[in-house]
Amino acid sequence: MSDNKNQPVRGLEGVVAADTLLSYVDGERGKLYYRGYDIDELAGKVSFEEVVHALWFGDLPNPSQLEEMRSSLIAEMRLPGQVLDLLRLAPPNANPMVVLRTALSSLGMFDPDGGINTEEANLRKARRILAQVATIVSSLHRLRVGKPLVSADAKAGFAANFLYMLCGRIPEETERNAFDTLLVLHADHSLAASTFAARVTVSTLAGMHSAITAALASLKGPLHGGANREVIEMLHGIGKTGRVNAYIDGMLANGKKIMGFGHRVYKTEDPRSRHLRRFSEELCRKAGVSHLFDISHEIESLVMIRKGIRPNVDFYSATVQEALGIPKEYFTSIFAVSRTAGWVAHVMEQFRDNRLIRPSSNYTGGFDRKFRDIHDR
Ligand code: ACO
Repeated sequence: MSDNKNQPVRGLEGVVAADTLLSYVDGERGKLYYRGYDIDELAGKVSFEEVVHALWFGDLPNPSQLEEMRSSLIAEMRLPGQVLDLLRLAPPNANPMVVLRTALSSLGMFDPDGGINTEEANLRKARRILAQVATIVSSLHRLRVGKPLVSADAKAGFAANFLYMLCGRIPEETERNAFDTLLVLHADHSLAASTFAARVTVSTLAGMHSAITAALASLKGPLHGGANREVIEMLHGIGKTGRVNAYIDGMLANGKKIMGFGHRVYKTEDPRSRHLRRFSEELCRKAGVSHLFDISHEIESLVMIRKGIRPNVDFYSATVQEALGIPKEYFTSIFAVSRTAGWVAHVMEQFRDNRLIRPSSNYTGGFDRKFRDIHDR
């Protein structure tokens, strides 16, 4: 019989589904912590590799640990030839997130630690996966625009290399710093939908590649990581500041959501958007696209007045990436590369204290239906 006493929590809002040491979102105070470090302390001061080390090992690295993390990630950036072939075979207009998800899944077939889920093997896979997702994204872009693939510079950091491999030029210091901070800000966010997908997958003892494939599938959606691409399309569609009112009021009147706004957990400002707003203003001015920042700023004020809703991480990350010269098709994939650091950390954490994640559902259908043979239906 159905147990109608347990009503589901729609969207699992407020449901605590895991213990984690990795990150904490204080939605009331607008705070984000990685391993106890306030993101406001880290943003602009640490490199992505330092955050990766903190997430994976519990603390920020000393100089030799940082060098070990940096050099090992750069050393793992090579892709098997078959996976490069897969990128070449992908339809030219396929969403890069679809290609990334497929390519990452295929990497599971080539990984030397493929079926092994020990702590040591998982750490090796974590390094490889994080390095390789960056190479998949940058290689896909280079192949699609008919440019030669760029090999990583063994001496440079992760962010500089990723941007270099994507755009084919060594980034200026302000660009590298902005991109590095963008990666830092996206690295983990407690039990976001994609992270939950990763933990659910690995709770069956499926391996890390399966979990990250599931996470990528979840991040792609416009209610999650896919919003940043929609934001830039909205900004270009609006075109100039004088049109913001009409656009936003029209969207709201039609019951449509404004992309890059709202959040399940933050009831006040998303701290990541505050840092990205600063970079957006600076980079848009430098790139000669200040109007995109101005439109964004006007949207932010108006949505606050109309709905009392603030921007989330996806809003200003769109203009930061646009000003860095990253094609909009890759915005969500860039997010994915950074979040892979958090996903693999959650996978390792789940493995350390695993129990199958298998919630219940509230059956709302009927009973006692009469079976009829197929010829009688
Ligand atoms: N624009 C307009 N109204 C909004 C928006 C928005 N972006 N976000 C929420 N609202 C309104 C809803 O219409 C609803 O109003 P109502 O109570 O009058 O019906 C109320 O705020 C609550 O919204 P929900 O959708 O129920 O909130 P939920 O917690 O389920 O969703 C989400 C959160 C998905 C982020 C939502 O705010 C949204 O769709 N935003 C736009 C997409 C987006 O930017 N996604 C990126 C999120 S950040 C990330 O994943 C990295």
